[in-house]
Amino acid sequence: MSKPVCLEDFEVHCSQILDRNTRDYISSGANQEQTLKDNIEAFKRYRLRPRMLRDVSNVNMKTTIMGYEIDFPIGIAPTAMQKMAHPEGELATARAALSMKTLMIASSWSTSSLEEIAQANCNGPRWLQFHFFQDNRITMDLIRRAEQAGYNALVITIDFTKMGKRLAEHRNKFYLPSHLKLGNFNNETLNTLRYSTKAQQQPTSDSVEYKSKHSLVDKTFTWDTITWVKSFTKLPVIAKGILTGEDAKLAVQHGVDGIIVSNHGGRQLDGVLATIDVLGEVVEAVEGRVEVYVDGGVRQGTDVLKALALGAKAVFIGRPVLWGLAFQGQTGVEEVLRIIKEEFKLAMALSGCEKVTDIQPSLLAYDKKFYCKL
Ligand code: FNR
Repeated sequence: MSKPVCLEDFEVHCSQILDRNTRDYISSGANQEQTLKDNIEAFKRYRLRPRMLRDVSNVNMKTTIMGYEIDFPIGIAPTAMQKMAHPEGELATARAALSMKTLMIASSWSTSSLEEIAQANCNGPRWLQFHFFQDNRITMDLIRRAEQAGYNALVITIDFTKMGKRLAEHRNKFYLPSHLKLGNFNNETLNTLRYSTKAQQQPTSDSVEYKSKHSLVDKTFTWDTITWVKSFTKLPVIAKGILTGEDAKLAVQHGVDGIIVSNHGGRQLDGVLATIDVLGEVVEAVEGRVEVYVDGGVRQGTDVLKALALGAKAVFIGRPVLWGLAFQGQTGVEEVLRIIKEEFKLAMALSGCEKVTDIQPSLLAYDKKFYCKL
């Protein structure tokens, strides 16, 4: 295998080394995968208007995110069950985030416990992502454990009241391999998860049937539930999955501290807008009251530049991290982060930006405007 030089190279390697169940789980989107593809295509519709003859001898990518300094504005999005991609799973990812001085969002559907991930991540900034569970005690327990384990913020995924229909996963009858288990749930909780499902769906091994665990996600939660979480914890709360200016305003009204513009990597409602196309609307709606981040389809340094020009404080990457993980564990994740970081640095230099605050909306032309100027 030749050494990967861009993020897509990792994807090619992955498609050769992973089994079908895992490969399709990582790569698939919902239904016809229109949104999955558009997340990537949409970035190409924004063109750059670089400025020349500025001193870019000392490009500095450092920024802060919820008050924590990170070396570059690219964090790790939460993705579930990472031990499917590599035996060290989330622990390797947590170590990579630490060594690269960036932020990791740990999924609560991890194959290591949130405490183990915290230990691997040492003093690195980390957030815990979760959904609301029908049994409120599970949610409360996760929040308290996150506080005790030193997580800096809670990320509530709000676009997952039901699971999107991913055709490949249906065809493969997706399963969590029986040697793996969910790290955050004890036997009692796992039993709750099991018996909440129909008899014929009950798992026969120690692994939790994929469908059954998602059937435990609360489908009744509303903005008031966010208010409840805010009253229950002092940790900042970030809403992941906002796709309209209207919801961004509601999120701010209900006290969220940050917003991740996300369509779950095109895995939920097929046909929604690409996240980069929604970002400007959300940034405008929140009027600087909270930080806005974006994920979905970020694959190269210029994508990061474009997202920041549209007002994102940082971007997150999901699948590329899993590709790096599958390729070479911690080293692979570090290499993915290093490559996109260096591409971003180059993009900053070539567009005349020495620090991230130099990245302004004037750097961008949407393709229509761009062609009008010709
Ligand atoms: C995800 N995503 C996700 N989101 C979340 O809030 N909780 C989770 O447990 C998961 N799990 C998960 C698994 C896999 C395999 C993928 C690909 C994605 C969504 C993720 O956080 C993020 O929104 C997208 O992955 C971003 O898009 P890209 O970077 O993958 O294009």
